[in-house]
Amino acid sequence: MTTIIDGKQVAASVIEAVKAAAAGLEAETGKKTGLAVVIVGDDPASHTYVGAKSRMAKECGFNSIQHTLSVETTQEELASLVRALNEDPSVNGILVQLPLPKHLKSDPIIQSILPEKDVDGLHIANAGKLATGDLETGLISCTPAGAMLFVRQTHGDDLSGLNAVVVGRSNLFGKPMAQLLLNANATVTIAHSRTKDLPSVCRNADILVAAVGRPEMVKANWVKPGATVIDVGINRIPAPERGEGRTRLVGDVAFAECAKVASVISPVPGGVGPMTIAMLMANTVIAAYRAAGKVAPRF
Ligand code: GUN
Repeated sequence: MTTIIDGKQVAASVIEAVKAAAAGLEAETGKKTGLAVVIVGDDPASHTYVGAKSRMAKECGFNSIQHTLSVETTQEELASLVRALNEDPSVNGILVQLPLPKHLKSDPIIQSILPEKDVDGLHIANAGKLATGDLETGLISCTPAGAMLFVRQTHGDDLSGLNAVVVGRSNLFGKPMAQLLLNANATVTIAHSRTKDLPSVCRNADILVAAVGRPEMVKANWVKPGATVIDVGINRIPAPERGEGRTRLVGDVAFAECAKVASVISPVPGGVGPMTIAMLMANTVIAAYRAAGKVAPRF
């Protein structure tokens, strides 16, 4: 029997723990956890994501502030907002939604966020802590943190002796995911578009994590029987069977066929997706505990 991971349920239990942690901190110190979310321009998908993040922050009992800036915002105006949020003690977490409009450079903005408020885990200080094995004092990028929670629920905290293959080498996901797996003692391979014989590399994986952005690329014969498969892809493809012009979401894994070979698999939608927001809330309450000089909860 294949286990299909219920990302919504796992995310809901993280959110319950975040709510309790935020309430506990407020009761003890009088301090409310604060998250500032910044969005520039009118990209509809980004507005949907940011709206969901702001709403979830409120639901967690946070002080949730959304800064919606016009598409004409200059680099200096955005940098100046980040400076103000860095200096504001009521703000524990700062998230600048990406991508920014084309005329703005995202890297200097992301790197100007104080590392202790970088709840996206994108600052080089946080990436560097993860890379050097410090999982205690930095903040970990939300999607890999969420995917890792699935891995830990399946295999426990110690992955000694297990082969993990991460397909994709982005700074946002592939690299931090590989480092989390390595920290948990897995033997890790990072595969990508230039890898020779990708199917056979994947077939060696006890834990296969796909984050390539290609709809249903991972086929059943890429999966080792009994493996754990985590699908991080979100691809919108035409779905004429649902009517003209309709679309549907699929992952990077051909779910139906791979589910017959894997022993544990995460679906799309309803897998890693809901975990990203949950781990953002977890990072924000962790940042709030640290700012108050308290030992942060673990998620
Ligand atoms: N755009 C899409 N995903 C993300 C994310 O996780 N963080 C930020 N800041 N922007 C995004």
